Amino acid sequence: MENSLSLRDVFEHSRTYFPSLCQSYKGHPVLFFDNSAGAQVSSFVINRVIDYYINRNAQKGTIFTRTEEMQKTIIEGRQLAADFIGASDHTEIAFGLNATSFFQLFAHNLGRDLTAGDSVIITEADHHANVDPWIELTERGINVDIWKVDATGDLDFVQYKELLSKKPKVVAVGWASNATGTVHDMERITKMAHDAGALVVADGVQAASHMAIDVKKAGVDFAAFSTYKIFGPHMGFCYVNRDNLERLNGWKIQQELTTDAYFFEVGSQNHEGIEGFIGSMEYLEQISKDAVEKGLSINMTSLKECSPKRQKLAGTMHWAYLYEQQLSVYFLERLNQVEDVVLYGKTMDQINERLPVFSFNIEGIATDDIGRALNNYGVEARTGNYLAINLMNNIASEFNGSALRISLVHYNTMSEIDQFFDALSEILARKVI
Ligand SMILES: Cc1ncc(COP(=O)(O)O)c(C=O)c1O
Repeated sequence: MENSLSLRDVFEHSRTYFPSLCQSYKGHPVLFFDNSAGAQVSSFVINRVIDYYINRNAQKGTIFTRTEEMQKTIIEGRQLAADFIGASDHTEIAFGLNATSFFQLFAHNLGRDLTAGDSVIITEADHHANVDPWIELTERGINVDIWKVDATGDLDFVQYKELLSKKPKVVAVGWASNATGTVHDMERITKMAHDAGALVVADGVQAASHMAIDVKKAGVDFAAFSTYKIFGPHMGFCYVNRDNLERLNGWKIQQELTTDAYFFEVGSQNHEGIEGFIGSMEYLEQISKDAVEKGLSINMTSLKECSPKRQKLAGTMHWAYLYEQQLSVYFLERLNQVEDVVLYGKTMDQINERLPVFSFNIEGIATDDIGRALNNYGVEARTGNYLAINLMNNIASEFNGSALRISLVHYNTMSEIDQFFDALSEILARKVI
């Protein structure tokens, strides 16, 4: 059992690596609580991008040393992404624009093998990045079934079983909700999908910034991630299980065709972004080092056989997940003391099934009004539906599908939570917001 005080020490110290986390606004320290939309970056990322421009800024496909150095670095980046999510190696990874464009690619490429009458499952819980590209397939007569959520906003496995009896070809599902923070049981979802003969396209975007991802253990066939939510630059990468590579012909021009997932990397890549991503992984390794110095040890049997890099990256994310549960417990304790709160998603007794992503409303107050009032106290938090449109229209219907979202990650602190609730109670104490 990890020592909870050491965990807290390690992650409170992690803030010191982020130059952007010490700002103030109107005399208040800025509370950056929009992490589900995109996290801040550490100086490891910033330094890596600077180093790229000085030492490796070159185009691919030729023989001089600067190019070779740059190409080696891109492969290093893919290998780190593979280590981060537990892929076999760098050949199962491709970098690209963002997660949304990878879901478009998956839907387009897998959709080519589907014919009228075939079916695909999407979920009511997902961000529309992994919803809308599949809905487009209905134009070709493909059935798209929606796997619904139950009254608690969690995916309903009874209905899933029914949908699987139709023998769908693809299940497109999120690993964790960006609206409620609910973590979905990907292993169970994938096992059931595979038993029914379907491939699984996972949206790993939200889960990856909070927990150790293991694509092999979960058994997913395809997945996409956003590097800017895992403390890196604005881009994304995808995972394609090698067994499924031939299903995707890719869209490269002839000379660039390769036999691995790189064929998704069309044209020139965002080299500086990939370097920054490497910096984000260096940061996670640094946290691993800090944690070991504080006496923490990695206690995950699933990591025993893995490379030392994967052990460090996944170990850090596992510790982050445990520490974030402490943040969640504290946040929910404080939230419970606020009157007339409507919280969406899991509560205290299911704390290990949720991330510290809290969407809620306060009866009688318009969501945006609270958001604007909080901004005056330096709280950077999002209001709206966060593109989990179907989910929010369902669970927050009485607030027009909108809620205030406080999304924390491992660099947020208990003291920030206190500052937030102090600000909120001052705002609520005023009769008019
Ligand atoms: C769960 C989830 N999926 C997908 C996306 C879209 O990611 P990207 O901007 O990389 O396309 C987001 C962004 O908020 C998200 O939270």
